Amino acid sequence: MTSPNPFQDAVALDEGRGAIAPEADAALIARIVEDFHVPHLKDLLEAIDLARKVEERHADHANAPLGLAELLTGFFDHLSMHQAKEEAVLFPMMLRGVPDLTGPLTVMHSEHDDVRDDLARIGEITHQFTAPEEACRSWRSLYDLCSKFDRELREHIRLEETILFPRFLPAGGPHA
Ligand SMILES: [Fe+2]
Ligand SMILES: [Fe+2]
Repeated sequence: MTSPNPFQDAVALDEGRGAIAPEADAALIARIVEDFHVPHLKDLLEAIDLARKVEERHADHANAPLGLAELLTGFFDHLSMHQAKEEAVLFPMMLRGVPDLTGPLTVMHSEHDDVRDDLARIGEITHQFTAPEEACRSWRSLYDLCSKFDRELREHIRLEETILFPRFLPAGGPHA
């Protein structure tokens, strides 16, 4: 069966390989999942709840982050799919030592661009996480949480793009 999906192509190439990734890669992958993938989704769910509350309570405030809960909900869907792809397909191939993952990594880079666009929209809607003077505790907690999420997600992507991914691209490849 032929497929335009680069993941499937890489899985096909992977068949029969028995190589094991260096320990450093395994440790970095475990750290990415534990320190970033899992907490991001937890933070997003908490932020969605807070955003609903704040939008409802302060709907008439000029600086209310209207639309934030909906934006975060869409973000949750995109990010959980992206991370699931990494955890179920990409990382296992890395752990098996597949040396060239150019196709799947091109897809991952493009999804990271979408993530950065989503983060920029959250920054805009929250005035770069700056609550007004009179903001209540929930409003401040919401922006603190969004700011932490932004910082950690950017660090997560930086680790993948600058340290992990280049180890699985041929030297001089598109993202090497
Ligand atoms: Fe990731
Ligand atoms: Fe990623």
